[in-house]
Amino acid sequence: MKDGIISAQTRVVLAAATVAVATGITVSITGAVFAQQKDPAPDSPQFYTEKVEPILDDNCYSCHQESQSGGLRLDSYEAILKGGGRGPAIVPGDPETSLLIKLIRRNGLLKMPPKHALEPAEVDVLTAWVKAGAKGVPTSADSLASKSTSPAGAPASIASKPKI
Ligand code: HEC
Repeated sequence: MKDGIISAQTRVVLAAATVAVATGITVSITGAVFAQQKDPAPDSPQFYTEKVEPILDDNCYSCHQESQSGGLRLDSYEAILKGGGRGPAIVPGDPETSLLIKLIRRNGLLKMPPKHALEPAEVDVLTAWVKAGAKGVPTSADSLASKSTSPAGAPASIASKPKI
């Protein structure tokens, strides 16, 4: 009878220890996820989705989505790599020769966005991303297909192509 009580207590202690360990693991995993979401590394695909895409969305999609100014779409990772009439918009690992970076630095004749400069912090984010190898999240074939067959897209892109 006495043995029974001791082993019951032992079981309670063991169970409590298990809960404590499990809680500890959960907390540390959650901590890691939060840390990653808060500050993704420039060489991670999360940097593209969380830092780069919002800047392009706010400042570039109005002319570089369906309307494809300069033959360039900036609303998918593949499209950025493919580039526009002048070739690839970025050279992964080499911001200095990347057309997109040159244009947002506004040192030449062509400046992007045309009417206002990006914030210095935004230029830094895009530059850091290209420098770290421009990792991205490839769009699925399905969503690319639905984008390119969008009925509003095709005629507008031809009509709005600038004469150079
Ligand atoms: C108001 C419209 C507009 C906005 C906003 C805009 N662009 Fe452009 N972009 C253009 C036009 C028009 C051209 C073509 C200019 C030319 O070839 O003379 C162009 C061309 C480019 C090119 C060269 C494409 C090629 O291969 O010739 C790049 C790179 C580019 N834009 C990047 C950007 C980026 C990055 C942003 C946002 C930070 C942006 N643009 C915002 C209108 C815009």
